[in-house]
Amino acid sequence: MLLREVWSLTLLFAAVNARVTVYGQIPQAHATSVSTTNAAAPTRVLLPAYDETILTPPPLPDPPTPKLFTLNLPANGENVNGLSIPQQGSFFGFSIEMSVINQVLGKNSTHIQVPFLNLMSNIQQRAGGLEIRLGGNTQEFAVHVETLENHAAVGKEKSNLQNPTLTPAVMYTTDLFYLASNISSLVNIQWYLGIPFNDTNWRLQIAELGQEILGDNLLGLQAGNEPDLYAAHNHRPPEYNEFDYFGEFGELVVAIANNDKIPRKNMLIGPSLAHAAWTLEQVWNTGFIEAYGDSLSVLSIENYPNNNCFAQFGLGAAKDPQTEFPSYLNHDAGRNLVAPFLNSSRIAQEVGKPFIMFETNTASCGGFPGISDSFGAGLWALDYGLTMAASNFSGAMLHVGGQNVYYNPFTSPPTNMSTFSDWTVGAVYYSVLIVAEVFGASNTSQIIDVSNNGIFAPSYAIYENGALARVALFNFNDDASGNSDITATVTVDGGAVPPQVKVKYFSGDSVSVKTNLTWAGQTLGNKFQVDGRMKGELDIVTIDCDLPSNTCQVPVKAPGFALVFLTDSPAVQSESSGAVTFATSAQTRTINTATVDPEVLATSNGKSGRERALMGSTSKGSVSGAVSALTLVPGASIFFAILGGAALAAVGIVR
Ligand SMILES: *[C@@H]1O[C@H](CO)[C@@H](O)[C@H](O)[C@H]1NC(C)=O
Ligand SMILES: *[C@@H]1O[C@H](CO)[C@@H](O)[C@H](O)[C@H]1NC(C)=O
Ligand SMILES: *[C@@H]1O[C@H](CO)[C@@H](O)[C@H](O)[C@H]1NC(C)=O
Ligand SMILES: *[C@@H]1O[C@H](CO)[C@@H](O)[C@H](O)[C@H]1NC(C)=O
Ligand SMILES: *[C@@H]1O[C@H](CO)[C@@H](O)[C@H](O)[C@H]1NC(C)=O
Ligand SMILES: *[C@@H]1O[C@H](CO)[C@@H](O)[C@H](O)[C@H]1NC(C)=O
Ligand SMILES: *[C@@H]1O[C@H](CO)[C@@H](O)[C@H](O)[C@H]1NC(C)=O
Ligand SMILES: *[C@@H]1O[C@H](CO)[C@@H](O)[C@H](O)[C@H]1NC(C)=O
Repeated sequence: MLLREVWSLTLLFAAVNARVTVYGQIPQAHATSVSTTNAAAPTRVLLPAYDETILTPPPLPDPPTPKLFTLNLPANGENVNGLSIPQQGSFFGFSIEMSVINQVLGKNSTHIQVPFLNLMSNIQQRAGGLEIRLGGNTQEFAVHVETLENHAAVGKEKSNLQNPTLTPAVMYTTDLFYLASNISSLVNIQWYLGIPFNDTNWRLQIAELGQEILGDNLLGLQAGNEPDLYAAHNHRPPEYNEFDYFGEFGELVVAIANNDKIPRKNMLIGPSLAHAAWTLEQVWNTGFIEAYGDSLSVLSIENYPNNNCFAQFGLGAAKDPQTEFPSYLNHDAGRNLVAPFLNSSRIAQEVGKPFIMFETNTASCGGFPGISDSFGAGLWALDYGLTMAASNFSGAMLHVGGQNVYYNPFTSPPTNMSTFSDWTVGAVYYSVLIVAEVFGASNTSQIIDVSNNGIFAPSYAIYENGALARVALFNFNDDASGNSDITATVTVDGGAVPPQVKVKYFSGDSVSVKTNLTWAGQTLGNKFQVDGRMKGELDIVTIDCDLPSNTCQVPVKAPGFALVFLTDSPAVQSESSGAVTFATSAQTRTINTATVDPEVLATSNGKSGRERALMGSTSKGSVSGAVSALTLVPGASIFFAILGGAALAAVGIVR
């Protein structure tokens, strides 16, 4: 990190916005501390992604949140003022830093990470599909190469003096696109990629190969990542401004127009500001949308509510996670974050373009220990996501860094730990899963913020096909005594409550915990226990409503979240609660102190007995006739069993 950059960023902090986003997601680097676990396991390196800090929950608010409140909701969406645009279950997606693709997606097109597929499949099953952005700081200096060591699709440049952000330039081969395409053939994932924007000697291979190999599974191409920080990062001269970006964007449009290998000319995404040095309005005022409307498919922003840059880089002010924690645990968190972008979401709607939060998470520069992977962060992300949806964003991507960040929705084990450990999910993964159920797969869900019980207990109503379908209820208070549990009385205006409602709860013992989180009774497992499948019995609570008074009373624990289903929905039919899984087969390697017995995993994923029987055995050698293992990787053989359509496929994975 150059001192000059430190200072320019420090100035940005001071000058532009109290809630500044700072560039600089953490690259893969070194461990921060080392601890020894039980005798059976080798020394475990406690990288930030596995940090064990537990903060103290904030004190209860004074005055306390009223325990009882009423939501009187019109039956018909036509009678609701300010209902959002229709939202998809895939509203929340993931933004995966290019430099960690190999860790998260897989090494190459024939070595795909099975837990990743399972994690994505959970969302597909609820939302019909999902969207992933491959990019971040590392996209800017990405270089196409013919081959990389060890058949990898993505690698890192060893030393990189060009790039002063500490993020190493990534090198990728054509196989990266086959990797993504092969993933899309297993799970319905569509991709956003980024065109390197570090100079105007355009390197357009990502656009060319992306369009050629991904076809319709390529949704868009980002042109510039946080250009308002280019000057601060010494990628451009200090005077670089929004008009310079406008000019470079225009040069790219011309380069693409003249390139026969990029047949689809109209899928660019911009301006993807960090909202640090420039506002979106500054870019709109250049005439950006008018000039490039025909080339643009999406308007975008990237923003984090906070930063931990002091701890990581000595930048800005020191922040104490314990002090910051309360700022995440109420409805103002999401509302304040979204407020500066309401004008732009309206403008986007007027010009008929989606407006997407392309990169976000709890805090830039890696997140905070104790906050970013806590149950509280899960509630925060859920509330923030629903606020963005209610504010007419069309999507939001939670950022995934490497093992050196605290905020990952999911983290693969460090390669030198993979013989005795498995994947880890952060609480914010559950937020994505839950948002998929909030909107479902119909593409007709509209949401509105109906909060009327203070900032610690926000609520939303969701209309599907124009009719009231679901209610989302939060309780940010932390009180194990039960004294701060709340009860919402839901009544239907111009209609009747159903005889019963079904309720799914997102639960954790306190806002501080990182373990034993459940969604409708099921969990993905604690640190190093995740194979991507939900485990445990599905627990959907049925609540009888009172028809004479037209009310349903729904309790929500402190802390907690409830999704109330007023109509029948695939999400409350237990039979469909996990149609597609990619099962891990027997592990043949000899070193083995796995945290979770693969046999247990295979039978504890929350399916009905019939579905379990369909999955067949997970032991190598007893694979049922319906399941075939196409690729067996020495050391760890893996097969995929795609259930539901009885289609079966297999791919090898890296372990
Ligand atoms: C979202 O868009 C709808 C439809 O245009 C509008 O009625 C509503 O007020 C918007 N919501 C916000 C928060 O801007
Ligand atoms: C842009 O990135 C490429 C690849 O890393 C590098 O070769 C080139 O010198 C960079 N350009 C500038 C202006 O830094
Ligand atoms: C992926 O890597 C493995 C070695 O780890 C190699 O055997 C295989 O051929 C590679 N696949 C591709 C498509 O390069
Ligand atoms: C998967 O990757 C291989 C290259 O390793 C490629 O030949 C094949 O076409 C890919 N399959 C799909 C569905 O993209
Ligand atoms: C919204 O953005 C437009 C275009 O930049 C600007 O002219 C207008 O003043 C903005 N409105 C508000 C309320 O910020
Ligand atoms: C894993 O890698 C880290 C960083 O390279 C190293 O410090 C640690 O000792 C390794 N652990 C094991 C168990 O090999
Ligand atoms: C929802 O929209 C997606 C993306 O546009 C589309 O692929 C899917 O088929 C739609 N689903 C329904 C039920 O219309
Ligand atoms: C998680 O739940 C299990 C089973 O209920 C229990 O044995 C364990 O102590 C819990 N762990 C934590 C850290 O709360």
